[in-house]
Amino acid sequence: MELQQIVGQPLTARVDVLAFTTFGDPDKDSLFKAVDAALGGLLKDCAAGEGFKGTPLQMMAVHTGGKLPAKRVVVVGMGAKSDFSAPNVRDVSATVSNFANRVGATSVGFVLPPVKGELLQLAAEGVLLSVYRFTRYLSSEDAKKPPSVTSFGFFADAKGSKPTAAQAREMAASFERAQVIAKAVNRARDLVNEPAAAMTPTALAAEAEAIAKRHKSITVNVLNAKKCQELKMGMFLAVAQGSDQEPRFIHMVYKPAKKAKKKVALIGKGITFDSGGYSLKPSTAMEDMKIDMSGAAAVISAMDAIGSLGSDCEIHAITPCCENLVSGRAYKLGDVLTSMDGTTVEINNTDAEGRLILGDALTYARTKVEPDEMFDFATLTGACLVALGAYTAGVFSDDDQLSRRWLQAAESAGEDMWRLPLNPRLRESLKSQVADMRNTGDRNGGAITAALFLKTFVGDVPWLHVDLAGPASLSSARPSQPKGGTGFAVATLVEYLTR
Ligand code: BES
Ligand code: MN
Ligand code: ZN
Repeated sequence: MELQQIVGQPLTARVDVLAFTTFGDPDKDSLFKAVDAALGGLLKDCAAGEGFKGTPLQMMAVHTGGKLPAKRVVVVGMGAKSDFSAPNVRDVSATVSNFANRVGATSVGFVLPPVKGELLQLAAEGVLLSVYRFTRYLSSEDAKKPPSVTSFGFFADAKGSKPTAAQAREMAASFERAQVIAKAVNRARDLVNEPAAAMTPTALAAEAEAIAKRHKSITVNVLNAKKCQELKMGMFLAVAQGSDQEPRFIHMVYKPAKKAKKKVALIGKGITFDSGGYSLKPSTAMEDMKIDMSGAAAVISAMDAIGSLGSDCEIHAITPCCENLVSGRAYKLGDVLTSMDGTTVEINNTDAEGRLILGDALTYARTKVEPDEMFDFATLTGACLVALGAYTAGVFSDDDQLSRRWLQAAESAGEDMWRLPLNPRLRESLKSQVADMRNTGDRNGGAITAALFLKTFVGDVPWLHVDLAGPASLSSARPSQPKGGTGFAVATLVEYLTR
């Protein structure tokens, strides 16, 4: 699909769908009034008849019956101006895109809502994210049909005045960024949606290698079990040992052309299937556990976008990848593991496997990369999902400044994240009688005790942990996001590292 700048007046645009927004009450909107006048009062009648009040994502559509060059007019609600937030912008343009594709339109002209910021880029992303479908395994041709919309245009100016050369360049740059980011998000969605039988640790490594091949600035090193053994990754290998799939510890490096401003390590949980191990999950909880590599998918895909857009940081993407299964070789409750940094860990729950593989990855990053800051992304705890719901990721860090900068990037990128406390008093529940600590604490505060476990391995490197158990995969669709893998965190990573 092409994203386009439209120069000219909305009322004269020859498009299949002309779309615009209203903040609440449409009667106060000047474009609404102008279109209504051109349609002889049809828009107002329709709004009254359908109870259109401009509430968030409320939509109404009318045929123009030849009274305007556009075939249809669509109005989408933005809610109150004071409630405006970036994630909504994607859903607004996605609502228009979904409607246009549903009615088989080929061209759309969208008048951006009058709000400041990186609005055009987010709106453009919304369009590109809305048409994502995971159709690989569907046999009907109908399901695989590409979207009908081939040209999605944004008016350079609601009044129709011609943009300056600088404005036109800025618009083109926003489209370019949106294309790169949406492609990386959609690719992350693919990796997450792919069944575990196909998206194995080896397949994830192949994806990382393919990305490195596309960019001169990116290299990749894939460590096998033997190499991890030499590095004494006792926790990662214990989780991996129950599966016939070989583990892969993937390390990608992006190097900027000029001297790097700082070194950043991104660690992603890559459990390609989480059965829970001997602390076996019930079937319903296991059903969606192919998504347990969403953290790895996010950092690997983000590297692709970073390779295209460039960054002034040296960036290391590190993803420990394996399955957590049951077998004659699987690790057991009561086992005592020795981590890469020498800490001994008693296993009281084999389903708390994410923190084990991440612990060794954090030690690896800290000692081999020596980064200025490190982040980890993991579908780590059901407790985080309980605490924050399906749309918001939990953020944990002792570093206030790092947290602020990260949350600012999330806000600009339109992803919902919320900081939770790393209360040190909860460490009590990780105490063990037989080892330096155990891997699972009490049920209460489960997202926090998991984060406290990770903190053991970060030393004094500034560190931030993102628990994306909720938003990594959705069970109900939203306009810019069909059910399933979301590619969550890719947009924030790109925002944080390339701007
Ligand atoms: N991968 C799961 C967490 C998860 C749950 C992700 C739901 C996405 C949706 C993780 O490995 C896990 O099993 N965590 C346990 C921890 C517990 C044993 C302390 C959990 O949340 O139940
Ligand atoms: Mn688990
Ligand atoms: Zn898991």
